Amino acid sequence: MAEAQDMNRRSFLRNTVLGGAGVTLMGTPAWEAAAQMVSGSTDLPVNGVGLDDPLLVQLSINENPLGASHRAIEAVAGKMFGMNRYTMHFELEEALATHHGVDPESVFTGVGSSEILLTATLAAFWNNPGNVVTAFPSYRSIPSTAEELGQAVKRVPLTGDWQMDLSAILAAVDENTRIVSICNPNNPTGQLLDPAELERTIRAVPNDVIVCVDEAYIQFVDDPAYPSTISLTKDVENLLVSRTFSKAYGLGGMRVGYGVAHPSLLERMQRFSIGLLNKNTLSTVAAMAALNDQQHVRRTVEIVREGKAFLYEELESMGYSPLRTQTIFVTVEVGPNLETLLDRLWEKKVRVRQAFDMEGFMRISVGLPRENEAFISAFKRERSAL
Ligand SMILES: Cc1ncc(COP(=O)(O)O)c(C=O)c1O
Repeated sequence: MAEAQDMNRRSFLRNTVLGGAGVTLMGTPAWEAAAQMVSGSTDLPVNGVGLDDPLLVQLSINENPLGASHRAIEAVAGKMFGMNRYTMHFELEEALATHHGVDPESVFTGVGSSEILLTATLAAFWNNPGNVVTAFPSYRSIPSTAEELGQAVKRVPLTGDWQMDLSAILAAVDENTRIVSICNPNNPTGQLLDPAELERTIRAVPNDVIVCVDEAYIQFVDDPAYPSTISLTKDVENLLVSRTFSKAYGLGGMRVGYGVAHPSLLERMQRFSIGLLNKNTLSTVAAMAALNDQQHVRRTVEIVREGKAFLYEELESMGYSPLRTQTIFVTVEVGPNLETLLDRLWEKKVRVRQAFDMEGFMRISVGLPRENEAFISAFKRERSAL
């Protein structure tokens, strides 16, 4: 009963204040809010939570808890009558090049960073069978595609404290290696590499082997001075850095990501892309606007930092030892009952998941304060009922 009241309060809050189900925005119907935005006559905080079910506590797929930037939503609203038009230009590449201080020819935008990782893997093995070297556990995209292609995967275990072992990764590279996949910070552990060691490793890989550094979560790294590997793409011709608008920029559903690399490497990858036809007119304007709203990124990072502090404290007070992550999620060992717990939480509409390839570990995407609280209270209830 108390739980139902809890849920009702949450649902009420979402529908009236934050725009649950995308139906209302501060009590204004979404279409009306959009019309006001197009005419420039609103200052509604329109981020919304984007869930069709207002009772859902969705913390399983690392989405931005704040929603998209107000400016991105405005840009989409302003462009909606243009959805009959293809996007036949490279404005987003140009904006990204300026943002990162690289040439526009060094930027390739994709349908999420997933397209970047896919085309890199296809390019690596095209007419050139071999193996991929990757840490384990780590993001699975490149090794899974390699396996689908019938290629070998060399998985290098993390060290006992969940760090990536870069010297072992380098040692695993052999004459058959076509691509090295490094996720930094790593998903699902949230751990970050030492930048100098990472640079040494990248430079030591033979230059006919693609090195892909996946920086999907780099904005969430604690140290604001932590260097991206993007600057290395200027002189390391086999380095690809993949980035996404799905996390810190809050555009997961818009499907925009990009790779930064030497043009010769991008050319190899683009053979497997549908080229300009991968561009979505609305997603492109959303990404342009989101890129210009770094304040929204900073607010996102801040709310995630606060949410992590809350989750660490609560989980520790329950006797757990969550990993200190540098990402948008918290990873914690829960033990052998994890699967049952996840099922029960799922039934209560609280969605968290197992950290993939980490038995007994739960991965919780950081949500808004009320979502983090809802997770903690449901978790306490369900684990004591086991
Ligand atoms: C490490 C990492 N890389 C890439 C992706 C792919 O994201 P997207 O295709 O939305 O850019 C994800 C998604 O969760 C991820 O965790």
